[in-house]
Amino acid sequence: MNAPIAHFNGRLLPLDRISISPLDRGFIFGDGVYEVIPVYEGVALRAREHFERLQRSMDEIRLANPHTVDEWLAITRELLEHHPGNQSVYIQVTRGAPSKRDHVMPKDLAPTVFMMCQPLASPSKEAVENGVACITARDFRWEKCHIKSTSLLGNVMARQLSADAGATETILIRDGFVTEASASNVFVVKDGRVAAPLQDNLILLGITYDLLVRLAGEGAVELEIRPVTEAELRSADEIWLSSSTKEVLAVTSLDGKPVGPGKPGPVFRRMHALYQEHKAKSRRQSAVSA
Ligand SMILES: Cc1ncc(COP(=O)(O)O)c(C=O)c1O
Repeated sequence: MNAPIAHFNGRLLPLDRISISPLDRGFIFGDGVYEVIPVYEGVALRAREHFERLQRSMDEIRLANPHTVDEWLAITRELLEHHPGNQSVYIQVTRGAPSKRDHVMPKDLAPTVFMMCQPLASPSKEAVENGVACITARDFRWEKCHIKSTSLLGNVMARQLSADAGATETILIRDGFVTEASASNVFVVKDGRVAAPLQDNLILLGITYDLLVRLAGEGAVELEIRPVTEAELRSADEIWLSSSTKEVLAVTSLDGKPVGPGKPGPVFRRMHALYQEHKAKSRRQSAVSA
């Protein structure tokens, strides 16, 4: 089978023809940032917002962006011509490959830009209908979780804990408060009201989190952004995960105990429906503008 087409520093190439220097700072230091954008039937969902967040991540790590948002969108469309259907687009920009290893950020180094597509693994019908299991762990990551950095060792180690336990995600607790999960944001529901953790440096502000907040406002779902305690997590009627690939997913078991009655709750079902409506609407709008 032919290798899939990917984007590398301005060119489209088969994935197996791309090679990266071992001195690349992405490889040596994890010195880079990334994005993941879901694509439904060729239409990228909230692509502009993803590239705006990429810009914010690059600003945080003092990396000059080689492209404007509109250029990124054009490159994405070009890549998607080779990848029909439902895809996830992965975009990574590292600080490039200097001639020697040195922690100090080199000046005037061309960044390394890499993009690829993978078939989108959306949640199964079973996961949506029955919810998923999660475990909890102490949030042992750094204090700049708002940067979508490729330095993901903390997240990888956290995710592995849940994989070892046969669970979908690890929900992280820092100093008695819920932050997020290893690769998703977390929401809790009590008495019909949704609470979302603060949008600070201790979480990645998810594009999906942001969308859910907006959809809650439009759909008359009561939602508050505020600190969420571990006690609230453990006594919640509902817990949700959100991410660009997971969409919104109910957590029905936490550390082996049922969440509420152990089934996805009514507020989740409402939010899931709002999310699906939003997806369908953005596909229709893009069909009209194409
Ligand atoms: C640590 C972390 N938090 C939250 C999210 C959710 O972000 P988004 O909704 O933009 O996919 C992700 C996504 O990968 C993540 O890795």
